[in-house]
Amino acid sequence: TREAIDDVRTIGNRSTGKQGIAIAKFAKARGAQVPLIAANLDTRELLGIDLVHVINTLDMQNALNVRFKDCDVLIMAAAVSDARPVIVEGKIKKDDFKELKLEKNPDLLAEISKMKKSQFLVGFAAETESNLIEEGSRKLKSKGLDLIYANDISSGEIFGSDKTSGYVIDNDGHHRIAEMSKES
Ligand code: CTP
Repeated sequence: TREAIDDVRTIGNRSTGKQGIAIAKFAKARGAQVPLIAANLDTRELLGIDLVHVINTLDMQNALNVRFKDCDVLIMAAAVSDARPVIVEGKIKKDDFKELKLEKNPDLLAEISKMKKSQFLVGFAAETESNLIEEGSRKLKSKGLDLIYANDISSGEIFGSDKTSGYVIDNDGHHRIAEMSKES
């Protein structure tokens, strides 16, 4: 997601959306109906996918709220901004542009899991090797998920990379995923 600082500036992150696109394409190929709620994505390669464009975290939350009741599986691969600047209207003049006041964004998964009925919720986490399983398991519980993929980012690479490794974790245990392409 990308969050406005003022009418001309934003802050964001380095996520490219590769993992979410790979999952959407694969689910579609398996016969699922796939709305892909995506922020700031290069959409040229997404023919056949029902793309819902959003910009910031609150937009993404609204889009999720509209579609959640009709979905069977929610897979949250989005790199959601944990905070947003307190918006200033117009353009901040450079002499006044010294610090940003931030406010917390909602945790979209934690909030939507409170509305869960039969939906299966999948989260992602980016963690360093030493606490991969522990942190992944903590987020599985705190966000009310059925499954989480804890990405190993100890090499410093994840955003934009074609490869991934880590652990798939659910309430029964964990399973190591050796390095493979995000499509796999
Ligand atoms: N996520 C979300 N809403 C947020 C932030 C993250 O729904 N405001 C989702 C992400 O899409 C991902 C999962 O939560 O599926 C884990 O995100 P992560 O950033 O690792 O978790 P945080 O709760 O932000 O933990 P940390 O304290 O490590 O930043």
